[in-house]
Amino acid sequence: MITIRVARIEDLMGMQACNLQNLPENYQMKYYLYHGQTWPGLSYVAEDDKGRIVGYILAKMEEEVESGEPPHGHVTSISVIRSYRRLGIAKKLMIQSQEAMAAIYKAAYVSLHVRKSNRAAIGLYRDTLGFEVHNVEKGYYADGEDAFGMRLSLK
Ligand SMILES: CC(C)(COP(=O)(O)OP(=O)(O)OC[C@H]1O[C@@H](n2cnc3c(N)ncnc32)[C@H](O)[C@@H]1OP(=O)(O)O)[C@@H](O)C(=O)NCCC(=O)NCCS
Repeated sequence: MITIRVARIEDLMGMQACNLQNLPENYQMKYYLYHGQTWPGLSYVAEDDKGRIVGYILAKMEEEVESGEPPHGHVTSISVIRSYRRLGIAKKLMIQSQEAMAAIYKAAYVSLHVRKSNRAAIGLYRDTLGFEVHNVEKGYYADGEDAFGMRLSLK
């Protein structure tokens, strides 16, 4: 059985391990801690019945908001380990975090970046959750791949 729950400080190592296994975009522990301490209600984990983290969403509120722009959330990273994919876990993690962004911080929308070639993630964001492409960021990733900047209104 998989439990989806808000991430606690003691989950951060498991989240980092999951991230290292699933994505080339990795972060130092202090960046996980910064998320956990600054926006404690926005990051979630999927835990199996042995207490292993099999998926996570690391999320925050955007800090550099231009004047007149509404507060909005941002998904820093999300992944689910291979053997637990296509079970709806990422969808649940996204929805939990989005609801918390709106409820706690009155976020008007949520933004994220995704590789243009990431079919699975684009399927999740666009087809399942209703995100739209807001812009294309040329050479956004370290290997030069472009990113789609995507957004979903939380109103
Ligand atoms: C992207 C990722 C997080 C999706 O996790 P998941 O738990 O398997 O996703 P879900 O089961 O919640 O999928 C929800 C929907 O997303 C879409 N989707 C998920 N995986 C897909 C795939 N491989 N191909 C096409 N669409 C896919 C489908 O619409 C799916 O709904 P359906 O299963 O009813 O068809 C996972 O594939 C992953 O960890 N990938 C590696 C890390 C990564 O790319 N993270 C995103 C960085 S921006």
